[in-house]
Amino acid sequence: MAGAGALAYASVVERNWFTLRQAEVPVLAPGTTPIRVLHISDVHLTPRRTRLMSWLAGLDRLEPDLVVNTGDSIAHPEAVRALVDSLGPLLDRPGIFVYGSNDLYRPTPKNPARYLWETSARRYPRNEPDLPWQKLGDAMVDRGWLDANNHRGRVKAGGLDIAVAGVHDPHIKRDRYDRVAGPADPAADLRLGIMHAPEPRVLDRFAADGYDILFAGHTHGGQLRVPGYGALVTNCEIDRDRVSGLHQHPPAGQPALDGHRAWLHVSAGLGTSPWAPARFACRPEATMLTLVPRAGA
Ligand SMILES: [Fe+2]
Repeated sequence: MAGAGALAYASVVERNWFTLRQAEVPVLAPGTTPIRVLHISDVHLTPRRTRLMSWLAGLDRLEPDLVVNTGDSIAHPEAVRALVDSLGPLLDRPGIFVYGSNDLYRPTPKNPARYLWETSARRYPRNEPDLPWQKLGDAMVDRGWLDANNHRGRVKAGGLDIAVAGVHDPHIKRDRYDRVAGPADPAADLRLGIMHAPEPRVLDRFAADGYDILFAGHTHGGQLRVPGYGALVTNCEIDRDRVSGLHQHPPAGQPALDGHRAWLHVSAGLGTSPWAPARFACRPEATMLTLVPRAGA
């Protein structure tokens, strides 16, 4: 009975109990005016998730300077229009996106507990993607967002000149870091790296190239967390301590890479696979990060 109650809570209540997390990141050069970055991830939208859609639609009122979308935006062939409508005027703000595996492949029924003993990486068939990922990308690019899937680019946001590099999803090995490799432009006001799954092998390269702040999603914060213990799994190679939230890479206590250490923000995301529709002690979230100057000169 308690189990049934917990499952009902996890699938009905907490899954729709969206929250906006806030954090401050001391990453800008001294004297720079702060900017506000809205990080959304793992929306996994289907056209029936009306509560999620209306919550998303309210985010533009926060007036972010930049929106970062770390993928897994859709979970249904008809979801692109719903996503565009929900994001609304956010798409007219400066934005950057990458794809996650679930933007390409339709969700399939699975044992939701399976992720406790294996990551989902090997579940993807080697056949053609069956979700409209190009239409999804075009919808964001048409409104001016930067497609950072194995691309470098430049974004102006909040008066800052931001050098951006991103990769397609490392979880299904579509990342091609070599296409974006090389030192991040030291002349930019900020150097930003973006990916779906926070795989350490990719984080290492961004950090070594001098990116100041890295954005990722994918983990769903563990999705089911044990109070007092935290996430059971991360669904990738990152450690459980950094399953979500603001951390550094390499983490404190480990040597910097080529003299660099990056900030890392992992979003616990807003949705779930339609076939694993539950979250526990891990509320669905978006995050407003205020980037502020580093201390000292
Ligand atoms: Fe996801």
